[in-house]
Parts: sequence; C-alpha cells; structure tokens
Amino acid sequence: MPSLPGPWQTPGVAGSSFTGLRDDVYRRPLATALERLGLGPGWRCADIGAGGGDVSVALAEMVGRRGRVYAVDSDPRARDQVAAAASAHSQVVAITQSGEDLQLPEPVDLAFCRFLLLHVRAPAAVIARMAGAVRPGGWVVSQEPITSAGRVAGAALSMPDVPNPDVGAVLPALVRAAGLELADAWAEAPAGAGAGPVASCLASLTGVDPGEDPVVLPPLVTVVGRRPQG
Ligand SMILES: C[S@@+](CC[C@H](N)C(=O)[O-])C[C@H]1O[C@@H](n2cnc3c(N)ncnc32)[C@H](O)[C@@H]1O
Repeated sequence: MPSLPGPWQTPGVAGSSFTGLRDDVYRRPLATALERLGLGPGWRCADIGAGGGDVSVALAEMVGRRGRVYAVDSDPRARDQVAAAASAHSQVVAITQSGEDLQLPEPVDLAFCRFLLLHVRAPAAVIARMAGAVRPGGWVVSQEPITSAGRVAGAALSMPDVPNPDVGAVLPALVRAAGLELADAWAEAPAGAGAGPVASCLASLTGVDPGEDPVVLPPLVTVVGRRPQG
C-alpha cells in the first residue's frame, strides 16, 4: 500500500514542493468554495493551519486592502514563511496559535482550513473554535482528505503517521455538530496517468514517481458551513 509520508504535513514550512496555488492540483475545489460564498473586497478571513501561506495570499488578493486575512498556524516557522509569501499584502496578519486555542482579534466573515484536521487529535474541537470565530451569518469552510480513497495503480494510499488521515469522510457531521448550517458539501479528487501535475504532486508527497501508473489523489471533501444569523 503506497504511503503518504511527512512532507504533506508542513508544505511550504518544511520545503515540500506543494507550494504556489496556481500549481496546486487541489485549487479547483478551493475556487469553487470561495465562489460559492461570494468572497470579495473587504471580507475578514482566517486561514487556520495556514502553512506557508499560499491560501492566505490567495484570500488576500480577493479581499483587497480593505480586507484582512489572519494566517494562523501552530508552527512558529510558518510565521516567517507567511511574512515572506505575503510581503506585498499588508492585510495578511500571521499569528502563531493552535486551532484548538483559536482566538482572533475580531469576528471574521470566513474561517477556513485545508489539510489541517487530519493532523489534529481533536478535529471537532478545532471546528468548534472556528465556528465561534465567525460573526453570525459568517462562513466556515473546511477542506480535508479521505487519504485511503486515493489510489496508485489501484492500490490504496495511506498516511500512517497522522491521527486522522480520513477525516474528510466525517467532515459534514463535524460541521453540523459545531452548530453550523450545512450549506454545501462535496468531494473532488484530481486524477491522471503519465507525466503531469497529478504525477508530480504524488512524487513530491511520496518520493515515488508513478510513471505510467494511473493515480487518483486523495479526494478532498469540502464542507461549507454557515453560522446561524441569531
Ligand atoms: C498540510 S499543512 C496545510 C497548509 C495549507 N493549509 C494548505 O492547504 O496548503 C498543515 C499545517 O497545519 C499546521 N498545524 C498542524 N496542527 C495544527 C494545529 N493544531 N493548529 C494549527 N495549525 C496546525 C501545520 O503546522 C501545517 O503548517
């Protein structure tokens, strides 16, 4: 069973090649989710488990100078990475904090996380903090994988070193349990065969070039939750 090892844990921070949203094979579900919200100028956002800040910078470009993006990560090294990635975006504020202790300077319109909850022991606690961080009527968007549903030449992927590699499979229930309305939820998996971005992504994650073998990367479950108005 091919295994997804460490590099996926800290892209950007640990030097993984999973950087740069324009080359990010998972960018399509992210774009779909943000479009679904109508994210635009002036929004206040938080990117929890921001890593190197690729998504934070993408959010900053969408919210503009009047908006704000809090890039939160428990790893202090992420702060410098985010500062470098967002040097042209003064609206990005890097904070070293764990998602379990999330406390922002102000309520936000959107609390977002991607590839975070698979790494935490109590994902429900993090989602609950995110739900508490948004204003009434605000949004919580979470994108998490079902690692074991990924395939290389038909064999299932695994990620034995993380606490919740398949957390995507229970994500809609976690969002509902946090008292949020389930506005939308779906799963999407990049797939390919032969040389290309999917093979490159797998190679960067596992160190194994799949060659001509067919690859289905782990499906990313996107859940769009909304805090009730009042
Ligand atoms: C796989 S990276 C995801 C980076 C980014 N969200 C993305 O999609 O490219 C996971 C990040 O979550 C951070 N992280 C892990 N556990 C955390 C926690 N409990 N609270 C906040 N950040 C955490 C790690 O330091 C790492 O930077």
